Amino acid sequence: MSLAGLFLITFLLVHLGLNLLVITNNDPMVFNKAAHFMSTNKLIKVFEIILFGGFLLHIIYALILQAQNWLARPKRYHKTNKSETSPFSKWMIHTAVIVLTFIVMHLFDFYFKSKFGGAPEILVGGEHYHDFASMVVTKFRLPEFVILYLAAFIFLGFHLIHGFQSAFKTLGLNNKTYTPVIQALSIIYTIFVVGGFSAIPLVIYFQ
Ligand code: HEM
Repeated sequence: MSLAGLFLITFLLVHLGLNLLVITNNDPMVFNKAAHFMSTNKLIKVFEIILFGGFLLHIIYALILQAQNWLARPKRYHKTNKSETSPFSKWMIHTAVIVLTFIVMHLFDFYFKSKFGGAPEILVGGEHYHDFASMVVTKFRLPEFVILYLAAFIFLGFHLIHGFQSAFKTLGLNNKTYTPVIQALSIIYTIFVVGGFSAIPLVIYFQ
């Protein structure tokens, strides 16, 4: 579960780097060409299969762990435990459901349209490209989409901040030296990812 989680953590950085091209470049073809490369390159296609496999593994393991927890203690404690666990850790399954709902909705917004039709195309130098740039801009001119995506990014942040630390703990990096470093990195990573993704709808909407 932690390895699948770390793979998803890496995917988010790559996905963010690519998506930032929409707001950092005046030429929409820069983003469209980068997205085209990502969706046609053979090596990336292998990673895409690993990505969806990773998602599936991560979800299946999470469900098994949650079921084991519930079965181990079907009755809840009367007193809440004042343990050292972060508040985010107690809400992992809840934030996971919200993030998963967002991802399914997001795949319908972009990914499935590019795979099964519905995405606008553009012809440049005799080659067809999906015009993802205009799809993204059209979506984020609508306030309801901006609000929905921003809310999803906040819950993604809650999920990531604990997930990041937990993944390294599971891999055994849990001692007096490493733990504070990993905690600091998880905060930096989460702020960077949530801030970076949030900048995209905000910049487009207010531009
Ligand atoms: C402003 C933020 C975002 C924008 C503009 C955006 C845009 C896109 C676009 C255009 C695609 C289609 C690419 C293709 O089919 O080749 C896509 C795919 C995808 N997005 Fe996002 N995305 C954003 C945030 C996120 C977040 C936060 C997640 C995960 C929590 C995510 C997960 C995915 C996944 C799993 C795919 C399918 C795999 C892939 O094509 O790489 N996206 N996104």
